[in-house]
Amino acid sequence: MNRLITAHVLICLSTLSWAHEGAEGVVKERMDRFKDNKAAMKAIKGNLGGDAAVIAQKASEIEAWAHEMVNFFPEGSSQPPSEALPAIWEAFDHFTELANANATAAANLKTLAQSGADTNALTNGFKALGKTCKDCHNDYKE
Ligand code: HEC
Repeated sequence: MNRLITAHVLICLSTLSWAHEGAEGVVKERMDRFKDNKAAMKAIKGNLGGDAAVIAQKASEIEAWAHEMVNFFPEGSSQPPSEALPAIWEAFDHFTELANANATAAANLKTLAQSGADTNALTNGFKALGKTCKDCHNDYKE
């Protein structure tokens, strides 16, 4: 009986990891968080000239993740299917600076959205935020 239960648990666990294309642990966690980031950017884009409260909320979520993300890159955690480049751990200070720039740009956009800025200003804030995503991906993501 116990053996049966153990086997069942193992099967469930392996099914779980398959469902996520093989990513596990911290790699899977950060991939999920980055997917949330992408969805947040999409929601912001869709609300430029729309609901500023959504922009403020999503910018705030991006800011929070930007403050946390470096903790999700323990040394050498680039095992498949991760797209993290080993350069991250050769220049972790720079990687951290880019995460901080991401946090600052998200905070700026949040402030703009909360202070009733016009669509033009919000669009510029959105673009500036998007640039900080790209800056890091250019150097540190496959
Ligand atoms: C400081 C660096 C850095 C910043 C800033 C950053 N990213 Fe990333 N991002 C990465 C790295 C590294 C990976 C690869 C992670 C992995 O595969 O292990 C990644 C992966 C991703 C992925 C792929 C996730 C997956 O499932 O494979 C998406 C989408 C993404 N980032 C979106 C964003 C968006 C949107 C922003 C800005 C709002 C952003 N990122 C900001 C470094 C960064």
